[in-house]
Amino acid sequence: MSISFDPDNRLWLLCGATTAYALRLDQDDTVRHVHWGAPISLDQAALLPTRVSPAASSFEADAGVDELTADGGARFGPAGLQVRWADGGRGVEWRYLRHEADDGHLRIELADRYYPLRLTLHYRMRGDVLERWTSVHNLDERDPVTLLRCDSAGWAVPERPDYRVSHLVGGWNSEFQLRRTAVPVAETVFTSRRGLTSHHANPWLAIDDGTAVEEHGEVWSTALAWSGSWRVTLHRDPVGRTTWTGGFGHEGLVWTLAPGERLETPIFAGLYTAGGFGAASRAWHDYVRRHVLPDPDETRPVLYNSWEATGFDVTEEGQRDLARRAADLGAELFVMDDGWFGARSGEHAGLGDWTPNQDRFRYGLTPLAAEVHRLGMAFGLWVEPEMVNPDSDLYRAHPDWVLHMAHRRRTEMRHQLVLNLARPDVAEWTHGWLDALVGEHGVDFLKWDANRAFTEAGWPGADDPDRLWIGHTRAVYRIMDRLRADHPGLRIEACAGGGGRADLGILTRTDQVWPSDNTDPVDRIGIQHGFSQLYPARVSGAWVTDCPNVTTARTTPLRFRFHVAMAGVLGLGGDLGAWSERDRKEGAELVAAYKLIRPVVQHGQAYRLGGSGTLTAVQYVLDDEHVVLAWCPTRRFGHGSPALRLTAVQPDAVYRDLDGGATYPGALLRESGLPLDLPAGDYASALVRLRRVA
Ligand code: GLA
Repeated sequence: MSISFDPDNRLWLLCGATTAYALRLDQDDTVRHVHWGAPISLDQAALLPTRVSPAASSFEADAGVDELTADGGARFGPAGLQVRWADGGRGVEWRYLRHEADDGHLRIELADRYYPLRLTLHYRMRGDVLERWTSVHNLDERDPVTLLRCDSAGWAVPERPDYRVSHLVGGWNSEFQLRRTAVPVAETVFTSRRGLTSHHANPWLAIDDGTAVEEHGEVWSTALAWSGSWRVTLHRDPVGRTTWTGGFGHEGLVWTLAPGERLETPIFAGLYTAGGFGAASRAWHDYVRRHVLPDPDETRPVLYNSWEATGFDVTEEGQRDLARRAADLGAELFVMDDGWFGARSGEHAGLGDWTPNQDRFRYGLTPLAAEVHRLGMAFGLWVEPEMVNPDSDLYRAHPDWVLHMAHRRRTEMRHQLVLNLARPDVAEWTHGWLDALVGEHGVDFLKWDANRAFTEAGWPGADDPDRLWIGHTRAVYRIMDRLRADHPGLRIEACAGGGGRADLGILTRTDQVWPSDNTDPVDRIGIQHGFSQLYPARVSGAWVTDCPNVTTARTTPLRFRFHVAMAGVLGLGGDLGAWSERDRKEGAELVAAYKLIRPVVQHGQAYRLGGSGTLTAVQYVLDDEHVVLAWCPTRRFGHGSPALRLTAVQPDAVYRDLDGGATYPGALLRESGLPLDLPAGDYASALVRLRRVA
């Protein structure tokens, strides 16, 4: 990890172990992109030709690629920074001020040539991941400055014969569907306008030249650390340039910087690898573990969650019964979901009234919490702090606390409205009840949910109402950070109706994510596949639930459900009272089996594997320990139990199956594959533990 500077060429080079990034200051003091890819030296970077457009004409400037494209001059692509001055003028012209570099963090400071605006471009190497962000400072003592766009960074890939983009699409119950498609010669927008990261798109993408595969090929990938609305615009021009710019906020939002005010954007991180999509994911996972998660070395407990068992029919006795059964199966954390507070006997009422429901918990939550702790489990609670039902005491007392606009309806979704946490009083109140709840009941874990998008996102009377799109998210971050600081044992799961808020920003203050409300194991294989592109198994909550599945009505064997859920942080989510004796026995054995493989799954490296037909698998590796989880939802007539070729084995090493006892030469595991001996029929799966023995 190093940063070097060549003053003659006004050129910077940032190096990780397997990658380098170079940029330079142009004659007009614009910061231009030079290189992002394989390692090079500063001398070599100085020799790289300046990237100009081969199509320059009176309709096209020949300028190079900007590190953050500011509106102004002959620039016609998507702008990363768009400014409107108080006098009505627009655009910026840069003057270089200085740069500083310490602890792997480079700051390049620029000022507008006329208006008193300061811009700092930040670059920080974290292993092989480059973190970038922007800060703007309005130094004007009198006038505000209007920001029409303020991105974190612009990225550019080198010229290649073709370009392909991998990204994630979806919806509620179908999050993280991986799409891999040619980049059109056009502007392609990936965005969320919902105030949340969204189920529909995730602020991650990967670019390759169309030839990369799982374990081979050049991949450039970026991810934005932001949990509210966001936009990334990918632009391919007809003459071989592919660039993208991204940051918080969606189009149409306008932010005003008051005199003296400063704004900092979230981190937009990027990495390059020549090792294919698998290596890109492993580099992301490593980054999340080392530089994002608050407590990365912990092993996540097996949790039980009551939602699918009870819905809103929560009673203290019912929860105690579930807790006893969960503990018998080996659960280590018991989470009571929705329905424990206020008048919350359904979706329509009670959100916002965060006191235990008197009829359901006569003596409050303390007796249940004590019972859960007595059973040897941690105690967790579902909360949805950003929301309110209009049918609640909170809303009756404070109808002005929600996002709303004068003369507009307040659109309800799931019978609820969004509290405006950008308001300091609302944020303070929210922190207050959460702090008391956690402190008074010894709550070890919060499932922090958010079940709707923003609509009519106004803030009547505020000077700069659009700032709520930033302020709300930052308030959520601050409340979580404060809770964690004041309650060091507290752990948090990020949920937004499933995977509506999974991103590197929320993961900076949460321990795991609930990727989807869809717990069907077949659907889940695809969801986990997409999720794993960026996020490690260590944060991927996964419950084993009952059949027929509530979402898909599909019936699958218990073992298959377990094997799919074991590829993340295993949880149980069924109605345990209805489990047969046989299921309980098998369930307890499978929970125990998970605990054996858990260090490898949660702390090891993941290699996604494909086999014949519908067979897919993941191989996890930690030192000499290997775990293979393989799933085969259907098999056609005449297709036997397939072998699975492993990628993460040394050809000259020998591996022993810790359960079956067989030994395999690595070369054989690579070439002809691991025999899986799958049971006959649909929904076949296998768990294999291997140890490298020689
Ligand atoms: C959301 C969550 C579910 C559950 C319900 C409770 O939909 O994603 O897991 O907690 O809310 O209302």
